[in-house]
Amino acid sequence: MQRRIYVDYGATTPTDPRVVVAMVPYFTEKFGNAGSIHAFGQEAREAVDRAREIVASAIGGSPQEIVFTSGATEADNFAVLGAAWGNEARGRHLITSSIEHHAVLEPCRFLEGRGFEVTYLPVDRTGWVDPDDVRRAIRPDTILISVMSANNEIGTLEPVAEIGRIARDRGILMHTDATQSVGIMPVHVDALCVDLLSLSAHKRYGPKGVGALYVRKGSKLTRVQGGGSQERNRRAGTENVPGIVGFGAALALALEVMDEEASQLRRLRDRLIDELARLDGAHLNGHRTDRLPGNINLSFEGRAHGHWPPPRNRRGNCAPDPRPVDHFAGCRRPAYDFPRGPPQSPSRVSGSRAPRRELTREVFTPATNFTKGTVSLPPGRTGL
Ligand SMILES: Cc1ncc(COP(=O)(O)O)c(C=O)c1O
Repeated sequence: MQRRIYVDYGATTPTDPRVVVAMVPYFTEKFGNAGSIHAFGQEAREAVDRAREIVASAIGGSPQEIVFTSGATEADNFAVLGAAWGNEARGRHLITSSIEHHAVLEPCRFLEGRGFEVTYLPVDRTGWVDPDDVRRAIRPDTILISVMSANNEIGTLEPVAEIGRIARDRGILMHTDATQSVGIMPVHVDALCVDLLSLSAHKRYGPKGVGALYVRKGSKLTRVQGGGSQERNRRAGTENVPGIVGFGAALALALEVMDEEASQLRRLRDRLIDELARLDGAHLNGHRTDRLPGNINLSFEGRAHGHWPPPRNRRGNCAPDPRPVDHFAGCRRPAYDFPRGPPQSPSRVSGSRAPRRELTREVFTPATNFTKGTVSLPPGRTGL
């Protein structure tokens, strides 16, 4: 019998059954529109407000500073476009890093086509943004700095607090995409010195299609979509009440176990890295220690990313491991041209992320063996 093992928790997580239970009534008997003034609406509104308090306290903000969105993609777009349009009278220059998620990079490119200028900061070999590069890139017309808290591919933790202080000293809005770090490690908007922070529910055992943008009180941000006056007139559209309830429930659960889970993950991550880094031609991408607790990203010299995972394995049919493990996910084409492997390395395979709550011995061993089995095949072979 085939077993499926999922270790792509950086891409998404299953919704925790307890979260599903919390959401269900808001699809059925408590279905009101949170904008309606009657009892059905008020019931929904109260649930949204409770979730807002949880989300706000999870990141050290106040409920009024939380704008619910359809996920981190929308939050990032809102942060970049809203800050640009809200502050263009002061300047038209933005700073970001070259390894941001596309949800930040794409709106930056969009703005470039409309008279804004964007500086894309390089990163070092570990994927780290140098705060001194930020300092040097600042111009009198800089209106926004956006640097992610943790990279979704290679897991590198960025020096957001230091960059945030630089931005604050210069009176520039600071945004961070904290999608990968909220609920997995401590995130506090004041400690990070950020004005805008994006987050998403489905990376933390919550539902897909819901997230939030934290907007520090007093930040100038233009809303980016027209329509109703929801979210204090900052984000038009009927609130996704079940999703928002699920977001709150998931984050509350994540915070309960965060410290313990993170230290367990770090231990297992390091063990897995130690095992796999010994393989022929293996190189760890990202920083050895300053990385997300559950992130592993390796390159294997001489192997293009197309070779891994084997095509049939992608469809969930087989694996080269003698034990049938059929889904070692996260092994996809890298989204960016990261500095990876040793100089001149032809290696391009990358992207295994460790599982989260389920990272037990039971998953660990077959996942390790599957990787070993796959990379031990000659280049060009698929393992079938
Ligand atoms: C760093 C980062 N930003 C943004 C996103 C987009 O989040 P969502 O799926 O909620 O739109 C992701 C998810 O892949 C991410 O990892």
